Amino acid sequence: MVKNANAPCDLMLFGALGDLAQRKLFPALYQLERAGLLAQGSRILAIARTKATTADVREQLFEKLRYHVKDREFDAGVANAFLQRVDYLLLDFTDPEGYGALREWRDEPNNELIVYMATPPSMYGVIARNMKATSCCNEKTRVVVEKPIGHDLESSRVINDELGEVYHENQLFRIDHYLGKETVQNLIALRFANNLFASQWDQNHISHVEITVAESVGIEGRWGYFDQAGQIRDMIQNHLLQLLCLIAMDPPADLSADSIRDEKVKVLKALKRIAPDMMDRYVVRGQYTAGTSNGKPVPGYLEEEDANKGSATETFVALKAEIDNWRWSGVPFYIRTGKRLPEKLSQIIIHFKPAPHYIFDPDQKHLANNKLIIRLQPDEGMALKILTKDQGLDKGMRLRQGPLELTFSETFEAERIPDAYERLLWEVMKGNQYLFVRRDEVEYAWRWVDEIIANWRDSGEPPKRYAAGTWGPVASIAMITRDGRSWYEDA
Ligand code: BG6
Repeated sequence: MVKNANAPCDLMLFGALGDLAQRKLFPALYQLERAGLLAQGSRILAIARTKATTADVREQLFEKLRYHVKDREFDAGVANAFLQRVDYLLLDFTDPEGYGALREWRDEPNNELIVYMATPPSMYGVIARNMKATSCCNEKTRVVVEKPIGHDLESSRVINDELGEVYHENQLFRIDHYLGKETVQNLIALRFANNLFASQWDQNHISHVEITVAESVGIEGRWGYFDQAGQIRDMIQNHLLQLLCLIAMDPPADLSADSIRDEKVKVLKALKRIAPDMMDRYVVRGQYTAGTSNGKPVPGYLEEEDANKGSATETFVALKAEIDNWRWSGVPFYIRTGKRLPEKLSQIIIHFKPAPHYIFDPDQKHLANNKLIIRLQPDEGMALKILTKDQGLDKGMRLRQGPLELTFSETFEAERIPDAYERLLWEVMKGNQYLFVRRDEVEYAWRWVDEIIANWRDSGEPPKRYAAGTWGPVASIAMITRDGRSWYEDA
């Protein structure tokens, strides 16, 4: 294990009492402490608008850690040692006067400074300007911001411009937490460390690709945010398109941040636009109605707490993406994501083309495609479905499909799989941007998604209903069936 390879840092965490910080960021920092990865002398300034003392906040964080960290990973001694690093500052983010306190808190100016804005994006510009005006940051400061970067191309440009006025692109760490997931990074290892796949990874050998990111939860009290965003802005513009890029990109020259991001941008630029007359065949949007989740009755989207009963916001999207380049011409990427689906499941399936000439039992021809299944969550792992002969004297040359299976938790039993935020925070501390999204990636992704949203708006068609606990509107099944295929679970 790398120990304290990073220099000590001062982490200023804006929005420290918010949901993200308490549920994800502090538990992740605690895990870094537990793993011995927080350098001696590293400190954290928790910044929020609630009146409280450092002692109150430490107490509150201790309870939150106890709640959010798994029992077997919670150690009160480590938690207390970690919390000694934390100070609290009450600050009105919009008031430049208050920022002097940030400077005073830094008693070791040589420590790396990391500013984490776990706030609504509307605050990014204000915080950046105030930090600059009060000389709280310099050209070495690293700045971490969360998605969503805007709600369309134009608003994302405004936010990026505001940040760009104060910080250079190489100081900005835009989070897409899917890039911190173990198996997502493994896509890079799988593709570029195994020549076996490299030679098969194109339209000559792959017939189509499926990406499913399903959640069984609803919108969990986040109506205000979610209803403005919808599933396409919340999930497709970022997480799903990032997965698509990692599957589709050309090999980067090396593992440096810009080499990887240059290749991802080429994919985003090559996405075929979905014009109004293609919408019926290429995109399905849905909204859940009452149904069941994990055996319990649950309300529909319009009956959730604080719901606007007339909302036409989508909670499900299925679409067919095509990439107009040599490698992927004619290979559809079927993508679907939704809330209140039957289970939490994220997986990518690469469907290989059948062998050019088939010599086995014609009744078994449907088995003849190899599949590579990459499970992102739960049960992280990979399985390659291959065909072998069925065993037994009476079976002749009957074929059987079976997996070559790699389940990480079984094969690498002793190793804990870190949460995405642990890795992302650790990479920020090391100053490595390869798991963070560059401005042009954000903007090309918006450009593609904006057109779909505009088409929905112009058509005036409401989302299609699906009962909670099902795999989305039937139209999403029809979309893939029309092409003579089916979603993997339905096969
Ligand atoms: C977030 C979305 O970015 O990702 C949420 O805003 C979603 O709506 C979440 O639930 C899913 O993340 P994960 O890691 O649980 O798959």
